[in-house]
Formats: sequence, C-alpha cells, structure tokens
Amino acid sequence: MSVSCSTLRSLNMVWCFCSCSPAVLSVASVSTVQQRKLHHAVIPKGKGGRSSSSGVAATVFGATGFLGRYVVNRLGRMGSQIVIPHRCDQYDIMHFRPMGDLGQLIFMEWDARNKDSIKRALENSNVVINLVGKEWETRNYRFEDVFVSIPQQIARAAREAGITKFVHMSHLNADIRSPSKYLRNKAVGEAAVRDEFPDAIIMKPSELFGREDRFFNYYANMRWFGNAVPLMGMGKKTVKQPVHVVDVAKAIINAIKDPDANGKTFALVGPNRYLLHDLVEYIYAVAHRPFVPYPLPRPLYHLAAQFFAMNPFEPWTTPDKVDRFHTTDMKYPGLPGLEDLGITASSVEQKAIEVLRRHRRFRYLEADLDETKPAKTVNY
Ligand SMILES: NC(=O)c1ccc[n+]([C@@H]2O[C@H](COP(=O)([O-])OP(=O)(O)OC[C@H]3O[C@@H](n4cnc5c(N)ncnc54)[C@H](OP(=O)(O)O)[C@@H]3O)[C@@H](O)[C@H]2O)c1
Repeated sequence: MSVSCSTLRSLNMVWCFCSCSPAVLSVASVSTVQQRKLHHAVIPKGKGGRSSSSGVAATVFGATGFLGRYVVNRLGRMGSQIVIPHRCDQYDIMHFRPMGDLGQLIFMEWDARNKDSIKRALENSNVVINLVGKEWETRNYRFEDVFVSIPQQIARAAREAGITKFVHMSHLNADIRSPSKYLRNKAVGEAAVRDEFPDAIIMKPSELFGREDRFFNYYANMRWFGNAVPLMGMGKKTVKQPVHVVDVAKAIINAIKDPDANGKTFALVGPNRYLLHDLVEYIYAVAHRPFVPYPLPRPLYHLAAQFFAMNPFEPWTTPDKVDRFHTTDMKYPGLPGLEDLGITASSVEQKAIEVLRRHRRFRYLEADLDETKPAKTVNY
C-alpha cells in the first residue's frame, strides 16, 4: 500500500514508541519511507503493550538463536510487527507464537546466500536486526560467511531498502589479532557493516549468560567429565565480564528507540570483572557441585576440543571456543555502554541461579543462595 505525503506527515507526528522523540522519523527518513510500502501495522495505535502497535516493523535475522528469543519477546511486548526469517522446522519456531499479538509475527523461510530472500525479508520493515552467528564452522558456512558476508549482504539490502535503523551484533573481543578465528572474523564483519551502512548500531557484548546460554551451562556441564574442569593457566590469566542476556535484549530495543544511537558502537558488559577461575568456582558453588580445576596446556586442550569438534551436529566445544573463552575481556572506556541506554546491568550474583538451578542435585534444589560466597572481583 503506498501512502500520500500528508498521511506520512501525520504519521511522522505519531510514529514514536510512546515516549520516544518524533525525531525517530526525521524528514530524511520520511522521504525514504515514502518510496517504500507501508503496512497498516506500522501505524502506531493503542496504549503500548502486546496488543497495541508501536510503529516498529522489525526483521530479526538469527531470531531462532539464544539472544533472538529475548529480542523478539521485547519487541512483541511493546506491540511491534516482527518478521522472523528462519531456516528451521516449524516446531523450532513454536516458542515465538505467544510473544506477539495475532498477526504481529510473520515467519518466512530464508536462505542467507540468496540476495532476493534477504530483500524480501526486510522490504516491509523499518528496523533490521542482525543476530546471525555460529560458534563453529560447518562445511557450508565458514566464519567468513557467517560473520562477514551475511552481515554485509544484510547491511547492503537494508541500505538499499532505505531502512534507517540497523542493529548488528558483534563481540566485545572482536580483534583482527585474536587467536580465535571467530573473533577475527567478527572484527572484519564489524568494519564491513560500517562500510555498507555507516549509520549501523553496532553492539559489542561480552559472553552472554542466561538460561539457554553456552557459557555458564558449558562449564556447569563439565561435571560429566569426572567433576574436573580443565582451565588454561588454571583460569588465573583470563578476566571475564559476562553480561546478562536480558540486558543485551533491552539494549537493542532502547537503541532502536533512541534517535541518537545511529552510527554508534556500544560495548555491553556486566557490572563486575572476574578471573575465569573464580567465575567457574562460583558457578560450581551455586550449582552445589564440587569444583576441581586442573591446568591444561593449550595444545592438549586443543587436541581434546578437536575430538569434540568432529561432531557433525552441535559440537560441545571446539579449539576456537577454547581460545575465545580464555581471551580476557577488553575494556572500552571510550565507548557508550548499557548505562547510556538507560539500563542498569544485572550482576552474575543476581541472575546466575536462573541458569544453574537445573545443575543442582535434587536435595539442593531450593537451597538458599545466601550460603554461597560471591565471586571475587578484579578491576584490571
Ligand atoms: N552468545 C554469546 O555469548 C554472544 C556473545 C557475544 C556476541 N554474540 C553474537 O550475538 C549474536 C547472537 O548470538 P546467539 O548466542 O543468539 O547466537 P546463536 O544462538 O548461535 O544463534 C544464531 C542465529 O543465527 C542463525 N544462523 C547461523 N548461521 C546461519 C546461516 N548460515 N544462515 C541462516 N541463519 C544462520 C541461527 O539459525 P539456526 O538456528 O537455523 O542455526 C540462529 O538463529 C551472534 O552474532 C553472536 O556471535 C553472542
């Protein structure tokens, strides 16, 4: 449905996320929106909440992953229309259904190598979020594809479609000199996205923790290997500053609402820094499991991880993951963070129990958290 100029002008006045400034739809964006199809679902109405319409029509690439469900839920509960491109079975997207009001979630199959399918996925949206990622390489998709080519294609398609809000997920430790190929490609991808879409909002979170994470659960599951946890250098040379998944999802939503966020890079970290050893010790303390760390040199750790990496389905670990987890989280004092988006970061001590209760034995299921000594923090 095409819209006239006057409709768009009136839209400009109402198209805001309740409290958001009307500058979100600047004159420039009006002229671009004008050339694009506008669905009635992006006309704001209602009092806010799942059954209203926020004016946001967002395409979330990579929504079927860990972070995706939190982002989709946050978008859904403010009344957004959400396009979910996916490549999985219908049963794997069932959990999204209650997250949006009737007709607000649009599922469509996509192929990351097909430019037309990317274009189709975002042609009716005014916000694009790229959460595509993979912890391991497959025969079909190398890290170069997942972290560089696909984000670049999405950024290009978003720019060509006249979209004004594009959020891209990078990583806090993205660095071209990193020993991890994942992190090296994240750095290249970040630059490629910036080139394609200079106004992109780039999020650099540290490792995320939350119910379905692959960080706390990964270490907690090591108890299956004789209760012993291998750590390079006993985890005393690595500093981690994990961030809660809900805080990152909130940051994405607030950045969409904030007209000043365009073109910025955000470093998203938790409130405390811990030695990896102390963090894993805390994980085991909350899970009421004995913690038996032992030092494993990098070549041996890689050898063991190589064995798991041969799993053709979901490898439990890979040499690259070992390197990534043993990389100290960078500090970016110059970059805006969660506070600049109006979010108070949740600490590990507040939220770890949500992840780790399931790792407790039955008799400790309801054990009080106060008995567990908080992990030691460091400030370097
Ligand atoms: N989790 C963390 O701790 C963490 C930390 C820092 C940054 N990040 C970044 O944040 C983003 C989201 O993380 P996440 O943990 O939610 O990732 P995730 O659970 O691995 O999910 C990634 C998503 O990308 C999709 N995807 C991967 N390869 C694809 C391909 N070739 N074609 C189409 N879709 C593909 C997956 O679809 P399928 O389900 O079909 O595979 C899934 O929906 C990623 O870019 C990740 O690198 C994550």
